Amino acid sequence: MSAEPFLPEHPSLTSVRKAMQACEGCPLYRRATQAVPGVGRAGAALLLVGEQPGNDEDLAGKPFVGPAGKRLDRALEEAGIDRTTVFVTNAVKHFKWAPAEGKRLHKKPSAREVNACRPWLTAEIALVHPQVVVALGATAARSLFGNQVRVTRDRGEPLETSLAPHGMATIHPSSILRQRTDADRRREHAAFVEDLRIAAALLRQ
Ligand code: URA
Ligand code: SF4
Repeated sequence: MSAEPFLPEHPSLTSVRKAMQACEGCPLYRRATQAVPGVGRAGAALLLVGEQPGNDEDLAGKPFVGPAGKRLDRALEEAGIDRTTVFVTNAVKHFKWAPAEGKRLHKKPSAREVNACRPWLTAEIALVHPQVVVALGATAARSLFGNQVRVTRDRGEPLETSLAPHGMATIHPSSILRQRTDADRRREHAAFVEDLRIAAALLRQ
C-alpha cells in the first residue's frame, strides 16, 4: 500500500498536484471528493503539515480553509508570519470520514494510510525546499519525524529531519477548538502562537 507508483515521472508542484488526483495508493480515495494537495509557492521558507483534509477542505480542494484553517490563519498573523509566505499541506491527501447523524465525521488516518501517503508529502517538501518544516499535531509529527515523537513533550524543540534544515512539531489548531472553556482555548492558542514564533525565529537562522 503506497502512493509511490502514482508519482509523476517529472515532478513539479503542478504535475504532483495533477497526479495526486489519480492516486489509489490506499483505500481513502474511494470515499473522498478529491485529493487535496498543498498550497503555496515553491521556495516558501516555512512549510506546515496538518493531518488530512476535513469536510470543508475535501469540498474546496484546498488545505486549511475550514474552522481549523481560520484558527491557523489567526495564529500565524499573531506570530507575525504572512500566510502567503508559507506552504501549507497535509500528511494524508484524502479525507477519511464515516457517516454519523447525517454528517461526514472525521476519522483518524491509520499509520498504514499515513505511510502510504508519505511519498506525496516528501515530494512536495522536496519541490518547495523549505528552511523549516513544522508538524501540526501527532499524525504529521509521526510522518515527518518518526514514531518516537511526542507532541506534548517535544513541541517547540528542534527535531531532526532529512527533509529540511530545521524541523519542529506543535499542536494541531483543531485541538484548540476542542478545548472546553474559553480560558483553556486562550491558553492553548497562546502556546500555539508561541511555537509558531519559534518556527519564525528558525527561519532567520
Ligand atoms: N485539518 C488538517 O489537518 N488539515 C486541513 O487541511 C484541515 C483541517
Ligand atoms: Fe493516495 Fe494518499 Fe489518497 Fe491514499 S490518502 S489514495 S495514498 S493520495
